[in-house]
Amino acid sequence: MLEKIKETGTYIQTKTNFKPEVGIILGTGLGGLVKEIEIEHSLGYESIPNFPVSTVEGHSGKLIFGKLGGKNVVAMQGRFHYYEGYSMREVTFPVRVMKFLGVHTLLVSNASGGMNPDFSIGDLMILNDHINLFPDNPLIGRNYKELGPRFPDMSKTYDKELINKAVEIAGKKGIKVQQGVYAGLTGPCFETPAEYKYIRIIGADAVGMSTVPEVIVARHGEMRCFAMSIITDLGVEGKIVEVTHQDVIEVAAKAEVKMTQIMKELVSSL
Ligand code: HPA
Repeated sequence: MLEKIKETGTYIQTKTNFKPEVGIILGTGLGGLVKEIEIEHSLGYESIPNFPVSTVEGHSGKLIFGKLGGKNVVAMQGRFHYYEGYSMREVTFPVRVMKFLGVHTLLVSNASGGMNPDFSIGDLMILNDHINLFPDNPLIGRNYKELGPRFPDMSKTYDKELINKAVEIAGKKGIKVQQGVYAGLTGPCFETPAEYKYIRIIGADAVGMSTVPEVIVARHGEMRCFAMSIITDLGVEGKIVEVTHQDVIEVAAKAEVKMTQIMKELVSSL
């Protein structure tokens, strides 16, 4: 794995000498942030050695290098999901490469189902913790101490200072934000009512099919992490309706404008 990370990182450095400090993973609904980046270089995933190619509808695959809020960023337009059949190591490989390139802070976005009864469709939720419900962990297998410790601490997974900054930015802009715990699981089915209830009981406010693997790897590499969800549907008893991928994309598209403003300002405040 070390060789692969180095090979991919070195390849990218032959294509651009841009030095990113902040990594951004653009999930469903945060594609619009790309329009705010002054793009210096962009690489299709298919052209990058060792990179998986994304398959899911609504996610194009590009690694974008440029300036956002005056900072050097690298953004993944489209991520890899476990439900597409990639291993946890494949899903998180780009985060390893970001670290190799010098990224110290990772910002992640996603779409999720809300189970907290105070949430509404279209709300933004800042993650203050997560629960890994994947039947797997990207750190299983041989540990390379060059990448991080065998048993990484997860007590401060989502950076408090970044959370506080984001809350302050949202307050100034009059944008409502929720905070809560995100449960990550495989998908690709959405949850049954009994599953939403179970995930709520164990302590989560929202549920989705991403973010947890990438954040685990980022913390392994001691990156500061910040993540935000768009609540695209509700898993609240009595409010559960049929949900499609199209619904998720439509709600995300509406809420993304607010999320983009917060993310952009957060990057510039770093
Ligand atoms: N469950 C899981 N993933 C999701 C959901 C959901 O309700 N909404 C958007 N992504």
